[in-house]
Amino acid sequence: MLFRCMGLAAIPAAAEWLKATERTKTKTKKKAGSLGRRFSMNKKLFTALVVILIFCGQSISQAQSGTKKRRPLPYEYGRVVIDNYSDKTQLAPVVFEHWIHRSKFTCRVCHVDIGFAMKAGGTDIKAADNARGFYCGTCHNGKMLVDGKALFAACSNKMAPGDAKRCERCHSLGKKVASDYDFFRFAKPLPKESYGNGIDWEKSEELGLINPVAHLEGVTPRNPLALQKDFALNPKVEGMPDIIFSHRKHTVWNGCELCHPEIFTGVKKGTSHYTMVDISQGKSCGACHTSVAFPLTDCQRCHSKPVMEMK
Ligand code: HEC
Ligand code: HEC
Ligand code: HEC
Ligand code: HEC
Ligand code: HEC
Ligand code: HEC
Repeated sequence: MLFRCMGLAAIPAAAEWLKATERTKTKTKKKAGSLGRRFSMNKKLFTALVVILIFCGQSISQAQSGTKKRRPLPYEYGRVVIDNYSDKTQLAPVVFEHWIHRSKFTCRVCHVDIGFAMKAGGTDIKAADNARGFYCGTCHNGKMLVDGKALFAACSNKMAPGDAKRCERCHSLGKKVASDYDFFRFAKPLPKESYGNGIDWEKSEELGLINPVAHLEGVTPRNPLALQKDFALNPKVEGMPDIIFSHRKHTVWNGCELCHPEIFTGVKKGTSHYTMVDISQGKSCGACHTSVAFPLTDCQRCHSKPVMEMK
C-alpha cells in the first residue's frame, strides 16, 4: 500500500528526510539533554511521516509522473512538447528542453521578458511570431551569437530547399535529430542531485560551472531587482522541519513577476495557504517544483534546516 502510494522513488526520499531530521533533532537534543523528549519527538516524527505517506504520497507520485506511470529520466525532466498547430500543419510537434536553455538563461528571461507561459502549450506560438523575432525567434533568429556561432533560426513562412533539416531541430517529436548537445556529456562535470535532471542546478551556478544570463539586449529592462528577505514557512505538522524559502535566490532566477501576483497573490507573508497536496498538484511552489525545478520527491531540500541557520 505504502509502496503503491508513494512510488518507489519517494521512499528513499522520505527515509533520507527522516535521517536528516534526526540529525538536526539530535543536535537540538544535546542542548535539551532529555531522553524522554527525544522519544516523544521520534513519535511525532513517525506520526508526521504517516500523515505524509497517506495524504501526500499518492498525489505527489501522480503529479510527478503525470499520466505516464514512470518517473521521467534525467534528460526528460523539464521537457515540454508543444503541439497546438504543428501536427495540423503536418509538422512534427516541437520539443523544448529546459535543461539546455536554463543552463544559459534565467527563468525570468523567458517567462517574464519573452512571455512564455508556465504551462505546456499555454503560449499559442505561431510560426509568424517566431519568424518576426518573438518567442523562440527572440534568440533563434539566425543572428544571435552563442560561442561565436549564429543560433539557428526558427520558423519561416516559405520553405527554401534544404530548410527541412533546420525545421526538424525543433519540430522533432518522434524523429531522430542530430543535436549539438549530449545530456550526459553536459551533465558529467556538474554537481549531482538525486532527482529531476540529476543536476544540482543551484550549486552548478554557485561554482560558476553554468552562468545563466539575466539580460538580453533589447528584450530585458535593465533595472536591478530589489532583493527580498528570506523567510521560513511553517508546515504546521509537529516534528516537521520548517521550510526555508529563499526569496533572495528565487528572485535572481525568477524575478518577482513569475510568482507575484499569479502564484502567490499575497504580498504580505502568511496570506497564501497551501498544503502539500495543492503543491503536488502544481499550485504554489509546485508551479515550478513539479516539472522544472527539483521535484517534490526531494522532500529534504525544502523541509530543511532550523530557521537559525539562515544567513
Ligand atoms: C529559453 C527559454 C526558457 C527558459 C530559460 C526557461 N523556460 Fe520554462 N518554459 C519555456 C517554454 C517555451 C515553455 C513551454 C511554454 C508553452 O508550451 O507555451 C516553458 C514551460 C515551463 C513550465 C511548464 C512546464 C509544463 O510541463 O507544463 C514551467 C513550470 C517552467 N517553464 C518553469 C521554468 C523555470 C523554473 C525556469 C528556470 C529554471 C525556466 N522555466 C526557464 C521556456 C523557458
Ligand atoms: C533566450 C534565448 C532562447 C530562446 C527564447 C529559445 N532558445 Fe533554443 N537555444 C538557445 C541557445 C543559446 C541554445 C544553444 C545553442 C548552442 O549552444 O549551439 C538553444 C538550443 C536549442 C536547441 C538545440 C539543442 C541541441 O541539442 O542541439 C533546440 C532544439 C531549441 N533550442 C529549441 C527551442 C525552442 C523550440 C524554443 C521556443 C519554444 C527555443 N529554443 C527558445 C536559446 C534560446
Ligand atoms: C527554434 C525552434 C523552431 C524551428 C527551428 C522551427 N520552428 Fe516552427 N514552430 C516552433 C514552435 C515552438 C511552434 C509552435 C508549435 C505548436 O504549437 O504546434 C512552431 C509552429 C510552426 C507552425 C504551425 C503554426 C503556424 O503558425 O502555422 C508551422 C507551419 C511552422 N512552425 C513552420 C516551421 C518551418 C517551415 C520551419 C523550418 C523552416 C520551422 N517551423 C522551424 C518552433 C520552431
Ligand atoms: C519563487 C516565488 C517568489 C518570487 C520569485 C518572489 N516572491 Fe515574494 N513571496 C513569495 C512567497 C511564497 C511569499 C509568502 C506568501 C505568503 O506567505 O502568503 C512572498 C511574500 C512576499 C512579500 C511579503 C513579505 C512579508 O514579509 O510579508 C513581499 C513584499 C514580496 N513577496 C515581494 C516580492 C518582490 C518585490 C519580488 C521580486 C524582487 C518577489 N517577492 C519575488 C514568493 C516569491
Ligand atoms: C517560479 C518558479 C519557482 C517557484 C514558484 C518556487 N521555486 Fe523554488 N526554485 C526554483 C528554481 C528554478 C530553483 C533552482 C534549483 C532547481 O532548479 O532545482 C529553486 C530552488 C529552490 C530551493 C533550493 C535553493 C535554496 O533556496 O536554498 C528551495 C529550498 C526551494 N526552491 C523552495 C521553494 C519553496 C518552498 C517554494 C514555495 C514557497 C518555491 N521554491 C517556489 C523555482 C521556483
Ligand atoms: C518545493 C518545496 C517542497 C518540497 C520539495 C516538499 N515540500 Fe512539503 N511543504 C512545502 C510547503 C511550502 C509546505 C507548507 C504549506 C503551508 O504553508 O502550509 C509543506 C507542507 C508539508 C506538510 C504539512 C501538511 C501539509 O499538507 O501542508 C507535509 C506533511 C509535507 N509538506 C511533506 C512533504 C514530503 C513527504 C515531501 C517529499 C515527498 C515534501 N513535503 C516535499 C514545500 C515542499
